[in-house]
Amino acid sequence: MPVKILMVCLGNICRSPLAEGILQSKVDPKKVIVDSAGTGGWHIGNRPDERSIDVGLKHGIDIRHQRCRQFTTVDFDRFDFIYTMDKSNYSRVLTLADTEEKEKKVKLILDEIAIDVNEVPDPYYGGENGFEEVYQMLDLACEAIAEDLKTKNQA
Ligand code: 4NP
Repeated sequence: MPVKILMVCLGNICRSPLAEGILQSKVDPKKVIVDSAGTGGWHIGNRPDERSIDVGLKHGIDIRHQRCRQFTTVDFDRFDFIYTMDKSNYSRVLTLADTEEKEKKVKLILDEIAIDVNEVPDPYYGGENGFEEVYQMLDLACEAIAEDLKTKNQA
């Protein structure tokens, strides 16, 4: 059975689509399934933000096929790990968990690496630089997640 990982942010058009694309590029797709979702529902069905698409392509990651969807409680059953981008997403997802088993699946993605911040900043209202910064943070975090799975022979 493949490991199933869900990346979650607010809109599912900027940060979590990049996290999905970056992690998927670092693992064997037969062993690890990666998806993403947003806690909000404003952009359902849309492609990722053009700025996320561009920064991904600049680094060889193509996320153009992705479509936005909203997080649902069924995701607790479908996924083994749920990585949230910031404390607000983390709290929102946790409030939807009705068992300890579900709560345990929810993590802050930057807790996977030693870095002096623990939230991936929301780049939506900022400039292009914000997207490169987000990319670099997510690349480090996804590398750590992929390495950890590989040491357990799961990726
Ligand atoms: P994301 O960024 O959570 O990284 O996808 C956002 C995208 C859209 C909105 C907020 C954050 N919005 O309010 O529409």
